Amino acid sequence: MIPWELIDTSRAPGSGGELRLYRRGREYSIQVDGNELMNSRAHGSEEALAELACDRIADCLAPRILIGGMGMGYTTAAALRRLGPDGRVVVAELVPAVVEWNRGPLADLAGYPLNDDRVIVREIDVALILRAEQQAYDAILLDVDNGPEALTRKGNQWLYGRAGLEAAFNALRPAGVLAVWSAGPDQSFTRRLTQAGFEAHEVRVAARGKAGGNRHTIWLAGRGA
Ligand SMILES: C[S@@+](CC[C@H](N)C(=O)[O-])C[C@H]1O[C@@H](n2cnc3c(N)ncnc32)[C@H](O)[C@@H]1O
Repeated sequence: MIPWELIDTSRAPGSGGELRLYRRGREYSIQVDGNELMNSRAHGSEEALAELACDRIADCLAPRILIGGMGMGYTTAAALRRLGPDGRVVVAELVPAVVEWNRGPLADLAGYPLNDDRVIVREIDVALILRAEQQAYDAILLDVDNGPEALTRKGNQWLYGRAGLEAAFNALRPAGVLAVWSAGPDQSFTRRLTQAGFEAHEVRVAARGKAGGNRHTIWLAGRGA
């Protein structure tokens, strides 16, 4: 068995945890305080997050998408594959080192999505964008923890409560969709989405796409036109 090799570490701003990038052969892992946030062996559900949301906005001529956060770039790459030449993707990533890793050792995993002219990366808490922008996005894709509970940093809890969900609702264009990734189901989160004004449902998707694996949960929450 090849041992894990520590490649780099960085602390998430705002009293967040320590992120560590590990490599074992061709496999990479990003961990926060010892919990795995992302592993390059399983990225089917991260891609499904983008595909399901993009399918919901397929009629948009020049769709604008917000993705939080970058991770290993699989969600971003999948969105770029689904969007046409006039689509635009804003990726909000809290930890500058993660962006650096995506320009370096992780770049080829998802096929160099940061080299695509349709992408803008902002090294910022996605919550700041949600608070600041109104009716700006056709889809907002959130995969910043392992589900609707803060893991990377305590402040992420705001995103999953009433105020954060209402901010996401307001940042979407009228027929927009919010999609949220999770390792497992959470009925109370579905209720909170509904209370914030969304028409929400859960979809179970395979962690490793066609190769199967565990089932992960994605909420698709539409604003309704
Ligand atoms: C699970 S990974 C995302 C995996 C990604 N979907 C992919 O395809 O590889 C979570 C990412 O969100 C970032 N993050 C955590 N909290 C954030 C926040 N509040 N704003 C922006 N990015 C955040 C983390 O640093 C990490 O890069």
